[in-house]
Amino acid sequence: MNATPEVLIEKDGPVGIATLSRPKALNALSQPLIKELLAALEAFDADPAVRVMLVTGSERAFAAGADINEMKDLPDSKAAEDAMAEHLARWDRIAQLKKPVIAAVSGFALGGGCELAMACDMIVASETAQFGQPETLIGVIPGAGGTQRLTKAVGQALAMDLCLTGRRLNAREALAAGLVSRVFAPEVFLAEAKKLAHEVAKMAPLAAQAAKRAVRKALDVDTPAGLRAERQDFYLLFDSKDQKEGMKAFVEKRPPKFAGD
Ligand code: CAA
Repeated sequence: MNATPEVLIEKDGPVGIATLSRPKALNALSQPLIKELLAALEAFDADPAVRVMLVTGSERAFAAGADINEMKDLPDSKAAEDAMAEHLARWDRIAQLKKPVIAAVSGFALGGGCELAMACDMIVASETAQFGQPETLIGVIPGAGGTQRLTKAVGQALAMDLCLTGRRLNAREALAAGLVSRVFAPEVFLAEAKKLAHEVAKMAPLAAQAAKRAVRKALDVDTPAGLRAERQDFYLLFDSKDQKEGMKAFVEKRPPKFAGD
């Protein structure tokens, strides 16, 4: 394991794991922390040995938001933009990684923490998880994608409710709302999240990346454009060796051996 001050980086076979580790501030997402996280994830994205990434925090907090101490003395909008443009853009860069990224959320995922989870491709939660966008309680709004990604995930009614009241969703509510895909008991949560990451890592890597790209397209473009993009990637995968191997293995009734090309 390779430790940095606030993000622990680990490779578990084909799974690259980044663990937020700023316990005294409930993993508040300071500029150095997000920079470190992004660097780790971009390195995993470029590492041929890594097929899937997992982002997690501590039992008590995935992340309690952007660091309020870094923002509280910004005098005006110009100062805020100057200080934070690059910082906030890092959430978008996480959403743009090529390989699948799973957020494993235990405890608080608030403000920028909820936005970080939503910038990932899939969220799994411990029963202790709490999701919310409480920024209006401190005089701002979500600035790292929350109003857009939350609305796309759960719809206008619930997104408005959370953004306008600061109310939190527990794990079961988040599952029912479509924000998370699986909920686990706290004692097995991390093991189950890793198991899921390993399951995804068994897929043909180029196909997994194309599936991620295509599903994300649905959030950004109209259906005809999304269908065109989907079909283009479907055809392109026939140029890959893994398509040959996957279909050959199927007819030969054996597990496929995917090389990622
Ligand atoms: N920024 C900086 N420090 C934070 C923090 C944050 N977002 N969240 C928690 N902390 C710190 C607290 O200041 C406290 O530090 P001290 O011990 O030095 O006082 C420590 O973490 C523990 O927090 P609490 O004592 O408050 O713990 P609690 O269990 O009573 O409450 C909590 C937990 C409900 C998460 C509460 O800490 C809280 O409400 N945090 C802020 C949540 C929030 O507003 N997030 C949105 C931030 S703005 C944003 O994210 C903008 C954006 O879109 C990018």
